[in-house]
Amino acid sequence: MTVFLNGAYLPLAEAKISVLDRGFIFSDGVYEVIPIYNGRLFRLHQHLQRLQQSLNGIRLDPPLSPEAWQEILTTLVAKNGGGDLSLYLQITRGPAPRDHRFPEKTEPTLFAMTQPLPPIQGTKGIAAITVEDIRWKLCQIKSIALLPNILLRQQAVDEGCGEAIMIRDNEVTEGAASNLFLVNSGVVMTPPNSNLILPGITRDIVIELCQRHQIPYEVRAIDRDELHHAEEIWVTSSTKELVPVTALNHTPVGDGNPGPRWQQLSTLYQQYKQSFIRGEAD
Ligand code: PDD
Repeated sequence: MTVFLNGAYLPLAEAKISVLDRGFIFSDGVYEVIPIYNGRLFRLHQHLQRLQQSLNGIRLDPPLSPEAWQEILTTLVAKNGGGDLSLYLQITRGPAPRDHRFPEKTEPTLFAMTQPLPPIQGTKGIAAITVEDIRWKLCQIKSIALLPNILLRQQAVDEGCGEAIMIRDNEVTEGAASNLFLVNSGVVMTPPNSNLILPGITRDIVIELCQRHQIPYEVRAIDRDELHHAEEIWVTSSTKELVPVTALNHTPVGDGNPGPRWQQLSTLYQQYKQSFIRGEAD
């Protein structure tokens, strides 16, 4: 596997950073995960735009232009054989003596690698639990500080579930590594973008598909009660696409099978993906 580190393409084993890197010491950095289909970076522009917003959020000057990133990432994908992959990209504030304040002068650390895409869930659905959203109040930043997400996801796994759905002040926010959708009376609903959730790229695509195909949807606050009475629940992410949640807190959602709206949107998503692969969409 070839990775990108600070301007060089290297075998993974040769990619080394300082133990004083602020990413290692403080989790002082941000990241992106971009799916690659048939060697092409899916929704690259949107991912790089969100990266820019994350960098703004931690007050780190963008080390590279979107065009430079595009060049680097395309090269990296080619060096790793193209095909279907997941690309991980991380920027930290770089190595500096340990001090909470920003260092006066340091070069950010730029890292990117590809990984295999996990197999898509299919029509079986996953189980989820609800948990308290114990994260900070800047969840719109795609920060590499993921301990709360990790602890909550592991709590779900320990209970035999695939995702933890977070609730803050009685309102549903998102999954530990996914955005949340539910369906009630046939209407697709998702919480609004704010400082309490990550503005998901997959979430945006689902909303676009609802608009394009006249599927009724609402972007609005959703409370715990609505979640528990939902006809359908799904979670979305770049690597897992649209995943139906068929059990919540060990109780079936609806009849315990993926619902018709999920089926419809999931099919539309696959069609959209195919049009991207054919070069007809970005
Ligand atoms: N995570 N919310 C959170 C907290 C996430 O970590 C993610 C994705 C999403 C979905 O965003 P998108 O559709 O842009 O992938 C929402 C990535 C995949 C990860 O950490 O691996």
